[in-house]
Amino acid sequence: MLSSHLFLISIAALTLLILLGRALAYGRSKRLPPGPPGWPIVGNILDMPVVYPWKTFTAWGEQWGDIIYIKLFGQSMLILNNSGVASELLDKRSNLYSDRPHMTMSGELMGWKRTAGFQSLGPRLRGMRRLMSTAIGSYAHIRDLSHHIEDEVQYFLARLLQHPESLTQQIRRTTGSIILKIAYGYQVEADDDKLLGTVERAMEEFTVLAKLATRGWVEKKGPHSTGTVTSSFTSTLLEAKPDSHGELLIKDAAASLYGAGVDTTHSSVYTFFLAMTCFPEVQRKAQRELDSVVGRNRLPVLADRDHLPYIHALCLEVLRWQSAVPLGLPRRLNRDDVYAGYFIPKGTVIIPNIWSLATLNIAKVKRGNTVIDPIINYTPGAIRQVI
Ligand code: HEM
Repeated sequence: MLSSHLFLISIAALTLLILLGRALAYGRSKRLPPGPPGWPIVGNILDMPVVYPWKTFTAWGEQWGDIIYIKLFGQSMLILNNSGVASELLDKRSNLYSDRPHMTMSGELMGWKRTAGFQSLGPRLRGMRRLMSTAIGSYAHIRDLSHHIEDEVQYFLARLLQHPESLTQQIRRTTGSIILKIAYGYQVEADDDKLLGTVERAMEEFTVLAKLATRGWVEKKGPHSTGTVTSSFTSTLLEAKPDSHGELLIKDAAASLYGAGVDTTHSSVYTFFLAMTCFPEVQRKAQRELDSVVGRNRLPVLADRDHLPYIHALCLEVLRWQSAVPLGLPRRLNRDDVYAGYFIPKGTVIIPNIWSLATLNIAKVKRGNTVIDPIINYTPGAIRQVI
């Protein structure tokens, strides 16, 4: 009995030694990016933050630098804390870094797996991106859609004037309505609209997404209850009479639009109201620009944007200030790569820490090193500069 226990303990110790030896040899032979050391087998699992991971990753950046390598059990992960590095890897090397990791919880179990943000790189994702680019791929497309947005904003302001206490519900109704209109041509006409209700639930519970996609589809293709249906992304693409495979791709692309668009836009618009409350001087400056360009007899429209540089910068600043997606959507490296002398193994999950990219810009502004992006002529840190 004793000898069989000893035998088992010896085997376990030997296995551990071999694994440890291989891990150390691997680390020595390839120069991996820096990061918290972690433990054999479990890696950095004990270092992982439970709340606000973006803040911990940013703090790690102070110690380990702009790219941080960690391992969770066998899974390599790379955290990008610098916009230059993020652009170098995710944009310039997009042929290597555009895949998405397999996400069992949110993808498989919660019903998001067929939407664009959770698809592996392949013909399906490329097909969906091609379809989506026909609806929102360029500024010209957005200009064509601007009347939908402007109509909904008018209704939003009228409702908000009557019920200022219901700000978040009104933003939710507006963003949901705009995306349902663009994706399905569906016009929400009442607060208790059934389809909109499902959108609201989708924002709270991931799991209803699959059902939501089907509801939107049925509403588009069949009779509907409270809202009305006009031409849209879905109807235009269906006019080409796709086969069943093509139909499924259109359905999933439409679901991707509102799945990715509703919550992010709702959060960003809400943040705008927060910013205007926190920084009244910025609000006054924006109002002065609006009064001088648009006047007080009409509402601004998208066509005014080029004449409203301060408000344009302010909107971008709000997106930067409190990003709705502080850790972006993870990507996956599809081949071994070497960057800045560091080896990055195939299969590494890439986390762009957008929150940190924004904080670093602020730090630069605070040092007086204002960064002006020549493309959009936008000054990061606009909100804080005014204070
Ligand atoms: C302030 C609002 C928004 C924010 C902060 C935001 C942020 C993001 C981020 C960080 C990603 C991942 C990008 C990447 O990995 O390269 C993404 C992907 C995506 N977003 Fe947005 N987004 C916003 C609004 C929207 C809207 C309004 C729509 C559609 C109507 C939309 C549709 C998508 C889609 C379809 C993807 C997946 C793209 C792909 O993998 O091909 N987003 N978004």
